[in-house]
Amino acid sequence: MAGIYLHIPFCKQRCNYCDFYKVLSLEHTERFTEALKSELIERTNYLDSASVHTIYFGGGTPSVLTYEQFNTIFETVFQQYTVDEDAEITLEANPDDLTSEYLHMLSGLPFNRLSIGIQSFDDAELKAVNRRHSAKQAIQAVNDARKAGFENISIDLIYGLPRQSFEQWQQNLEQAFRLKPEHISAYGLTYEEGTGLWKQREKGIVTELPDELMLRMYRYMLQQMSEKGYDAYEISNFALAGCKSRHNSSYWEMIPYLGVGPSAHSYNGSSRQWNKPNLLSYMQGFEQHSYTPEVEMLTENDAYNDFVMVRLRTREGIDLNVLKNKYGQPYYEWCLAQADVYCSSGHLTRTDNRLHLTLDGIEISNSIIASLMKTD
Ligand SMILES: C[S@@+](CC[C@H](N)C(=O)[O-])C[C@H]1O[C@@H](n2cnc3c(N)ncnc32)[C@H](O)[C@@H]1O
Ligand code: SF4
Repeated sequence: MAGIYLHIPFCKQRCNYCDFYKVLSLEHTERFTEALKSELIERTNYLDSASVHTIYFGGGTPSVLTYEQFNTIFETVFQQYTVDEDAEITLEANPDDLTSEYLHMLSGLPFNRLSIGIQSFDDAELKAVNRRHSAKQAIQAVNDARKAGFENISIDLIYGLPRQSFEQWQQNLEQAFRLKPEHISAYGLTYEEGTGLWKQREKGIVTELPDELMLRMYRYMLQQMSEKGYDAYEISNFALAGCKSRHNSSYWEMIPYLGVGPSAHSYNGSSRQWNKPNLLSYMQGFEQHSYTPEVEMLTENDAYNDFVMVRLRTREGIDLNVLKNKYGQPYYEWCLAQADVYCSSGHLTRTDNRLHLTLDGIEISNSIIASLMKTD
């Protein structure tokens, strides 16, 4: 089993919190599609003939591509890889791209899941982070996607946006539930170094919301998700029954994936590979047959650390038997010894030989994960 991630690095406008790799011109979409095609052909062996059960177009903004460009990419994927008949095939899309015509076009392609980046249903909040769309457009996009036949829709939200009040977050969630998406990803706003928002904070134009308010928003969300039937299967991901993102789950289950496009990462259990975040050198690399990905062979510590990091964020937590079988007794003992203090303080629980974050633990998950990791 394996996944394919395709990074489509184009955006029409820069949202001020975002540090994903992108360029702000659509000039090279055609040339990029050809390079992507070459990469898909050249790197077929990375997945070692494993069947592909998820394909994810992420960005940037994949919803700037045309029917012909998607078609070229799909043809290459289906020719080069064995794709499961019931593969989950997701398109990450921005609401303002999802016109009825565009959705109609998409419904003629193999996509069976849409992940719509809404972030907020409040126009002032959207404006403060330089989003291109309005709340009305976001609602319309979800409704039109339904009309176009999409039955598996996810929406992305961000809480803790600049000047957001608790009540505004409550209203955002209420609006989200009214749309009944199958899946919701909701992230706390992070101030990424070098972004517009980071600079605004440095100049004192915006201030981060206090930790207590962020926690109150998160706790309220957990309670509401549970009431509305959304399973909190990962710290930031919620799904109605049967609608977990198989692609995201694969990352947490450490299933191999091939990431193509500039800045994309790949993992196959023994190595991590990644493409430099540079569109021009990416395209030139394939045109001149001189492309090579960056490669890092995984040490035992790396493999164990990856396992701890991804598993602890999930509701199932770390299965200690699996840990022992995969990485051996010394890692197992190290993990237990490090976890001990958090079990005593109520941040971790151990049941059925699994380690889980408690609600208090989720709030300091990054530091718990860091202490369970092993460095040389
Ligand atoms: C690749 S990004 C954007 C996808 C799409 N281009 C869009 O704008 O909707 C995927 C998601 O990560 C989340 N995200 C990106 N940067 C973030 C940040 N600094 N803090 C919190 N969430 C962030 C947003 O919810 C976003 O929809
Ligand atoms: S959030 Fe999405 S649209 Fe905005 S800059 Fe990032 S990738 Fe582009």
